[in-house]
Amino acid sequence: MNVRFADRRPEGPHALAIPLTAGKVDAARLAGLSGDDAAFVARAAAASKFEGEAGGIADLYAGDGRVLLVGLGDGDSDKAYEKAGGALAARVQTTEKVLVVDVSGIKASGARAAALAFGAVMRNWRYDVYRTRLKASQKPSLEEIVIVGAGEGADAAWASAKALADGVAFTKELVTEPANILYPESFVERCRKLEALGVEITVLDDKQMADLGMGALLGVAQGSRRPARLLVMRWKGADKEPVAFVGKGVTFDTGGISIKPAAGMEDMKWDMGGAGAVAGAMLALAGRKAKAHVIGVCGLVENMPDGNAQRPGDVVTSMSGQTIEVINTDAEGRLVLCDAITWVQRTHGVKTIVDLATLTGAMIVSLGNEYGGLFANDDALADMLLKAGEASGDKMWRFPLGDAYDKLIDSPIADMKNVGPRFGGSITAAQFIKRYVEDGVKWAHLDIAGMVWSGKAGPTWDKGATGFGVRILDRFVADNLEG
Ligand code: BES
Ligand code: ZN
Ligand code: ZN
Repeated sequence: MNVRFADRRPEGPHALAIPLTAGKVDAARLAGLSGDDAAFVARAAAASKFEGEAGGIADLYAGDGRVLLVGLGDGDSDKAYEKAGGALAARVQTTEKVLVVDVSGIKASGARAAALAFGAVMRNWRYDVYRTRLKASQKPSLEEIVIVGAGEGADAAWASAKALADGVAFTKELVTEPANILYPESFVERCRKLEALGVEITVLDDKQMADLGMGALLGVAQGSRRPARLLVMRWKGADKEPVAFVGKGVTFDTGGISIKPAAGMEDMKWDMGGAGAVAGAMLALAGRKAKAHVIGVCGLVENMPDGNAQRPGDVVTSMSGQTIEVINTDAEGRLVLCDAITWVQRTHGVKTIVDLATLTGAMIVSLGNEYGGLFANDDALADMLLKAGEASGDKMWRFPLGDAYDKLIDSPIADMKNVGPRFGGSITAAQFIKRYVEDGVKWAHLDIAGMVWSGKAGPTWDKGATGFGVRILDRFVADNLEG
């Protein structure tokens, strides 16, 4: 969908939207409507009890066409504008071709108008490639949003918001694709398009990873016909020390020999959501030419239970040299992340790492689908991420780490086992990863198991993939690394 900012309403057929802050709707507030129409719409709004509540809509006809009033609530934040944009897109996605949003009455700044466009573009995303029998009435029709009367700077604000929206859309696409289409090699191929934006891509195949001793990651992959890959995307937008983002990219998680129950197993196509977020964030950063140096690493494997699969009780040696007793082959994400993290420290000498992973079901038990879990060995890094989460909408809640948890993963036969006791499962998973973080490295782990997929539509996403993770990473970079 195209977004454009203009001084006046375009010629040609379109629906008109008028955003309004909370309060009674009277004709004087309805910029863009003539006197009679404004009076009529104000009466209709009152009859439908529309009073500008955030994201609320009054969907009306007046004069020569459709008029949508959309609420901004107190109208005091970018979020309110995003929400209004999202509500509008959801409402007209399959019914209008052009939507004109007149913000002159509320005197929206350029940045606020761009936030509205961002919400609309985000909410408008859908993935219909496998739907060959859509009825005409179900097909998306919305092609353009024209925002009329925005203040200074809308185009510039939109340019960077658009890069972010593109990144989120890319993540949603990766997360949505089924595992017969998206597997380690095809994940890498989808990311090749980032090269055109100036992202440098390096790929390690299974042979190269074996030579490096990545026995933990490769142990997960060995039960699958699909070979593993380590995908490295580097954006050097400034001559600075690099920061690493590392994503769990299990393109399908059957559980392996510790196989999962059949019910709901299809969800495990999105067990690459951490890697998807890293790829989307790299696209966003490169798209807006962020003045930062970031290395995105995706550990890509499929966890399957074939005759070559690893068994519970197997002992594998990670790239770090530490050995792991694999008690449960379904606790595979940490096995992938540990080698990816060792690799990026040894190869690029990074001193800050943020990893993202759909790591534990226990995280969903703890936080449901409202917050992701944050773990960190550094308070300042944790605070930056908590702030970036609140500001961007990808919200995180911090969990504890400590020696008492760490010793729960000691093994009688190897340096550690890959699972702890039943309780505190998200924390022992984080403790496992922490054992691979080298001295002097600041590290945060985001367990986003409950966040990458949604059973219901939200303000800026439809049900399905949410694109979670891209916005917090982009915001973290913008607020902390670009100065
Ligand atoms: N990918 C799952 C975690 C998960 C579960 C994400 C449900 C999203 C929804 C992970 O690989 C896993 O299976 N973890 C196990 C760990 C356990 C064996 C210690 C889990 O959470 O049950
Ligand atoms: Zn698993
Ligand atoms: Zn998994």
